[in-house]
This record gives sequence, C-alpha cells and structure tokens, in this order.
Amino acid sequence: MRRAVCPGSFDPITNGHLDIIERASQLYDVVHVAVLINKNKQGLFTIEERIEMIEETCAQYGNVKVESHHGLLVDFCRDREIPAIVKGLRAVSDFDYELQMAQMNRGLTGVETLFVPTSPTYSFLSSTLVKEVASYGRDVSHLIPPMVHHRLVERLAERAAQ
Ligand code: PNS
Repeated sequence: MRRAVCPGSFDPITNGHLDIIERASQLYDVVHVAVLINKNKQGLFTIEERIEMIEETCAQYGNVKVESHHGLLVDFCRDREIPAIVKGLRAVSDFDYELQMAQMNRGLTGVETLFVPTSPTYSFLSSTLVKEVASYGRDVSHLIPPMVHHRLVERLAERAAQ
C-alpha cells in the first residue's frame, strides 16, 4: 500500500490545497491529510472544524484520511509508516523554506518530500490571503469550496459582531 501525507494548517482548506490533495490521491493508494496543531497560532477555525471541512470536501476522492497532529511531522509519518510527504510549490519564494524542511525531515527519519507545482490558477492563493480579503467583504467564493465559503462568511460575521 503506497501512502503519502499532505500536511498543513488548513485554516481553512482552499482550492489550492484541494488541487494538491486530489493529485496526490491519484498517485498514492492512501493520502493522509495531517492538520498540524500550532499552539502559537490562533486560528479562525478550530482543528475539529478544519478536519470536518477537509473530510467533506475530500470525500469525493475516496482514499483520503484526515487527522490532526501535535508535534513533528516526521513523527506522524513514523507512527503510520508513511514514507512520503507531498507539498505544493506555488512560487520560487516557497522553495527556500520548503527545501529546508524537506532536508531536515529526511535527515531526521529518511522521509522523502515530493514537490508538486501548484496549478497556475492557484499560484497566488493562501488561506491567510483568503481570510484577509473576505474580512473586507470581497468575494472569495471562486477560491474555496462552497461549503467552506459558507462557513467562512458565517465565522467572519460572528467575529465582526463580537
Ligand atoms: O499550511 P502551512 O502552515 O504552511 O503548513 C506548514 C506545516 C504545518 C506543514 C509545517 O510547519 C510543519 O510541517 N509543521 C509541523 C512541525 C514540524 O515538523 N516542524 C519541523 C519542520 S522541519
């Protein structure tokens, strides 16, 4: 069984993430989506909400398993015998840090990182930008799945009312 992991914060999942997960799901028998918990980062969505949104949008692929993880990605991989990390590369600016992480992770446990070039349609896309643009009332419905868009608009309205 060939396994790989697509890791990230997914706060929330975007069409750019989905593009990478879908392509990984065509290359591997099982794709684990790991929602990494970062205690220093206050998210807009809880880890449970992020998992729920990923599960719902990835159900169509049939071989995607979504879990959260607190700690190093290499430990997530070791515990599940996952030999490969799949990451999307949006632009050259992503490369420096991604290369550092890939080399560190391989040095730690031998886990390999495979870089997939993001579709040009999504090369500018990030969860952070989507949240920022949406918070000023601009339409981001073409950048995230419809169910995620619905939840984002709802959450931002709740936050604005506080
Ligand atoms: O969606 P993001 O925030 O760009 O994802 C970054 C993430 C979560 C994949 C990366 O920070 C990560 O792998 N964190 C887990 C902790 C870890 O293993 N750190 C050492 C990396 S060499």
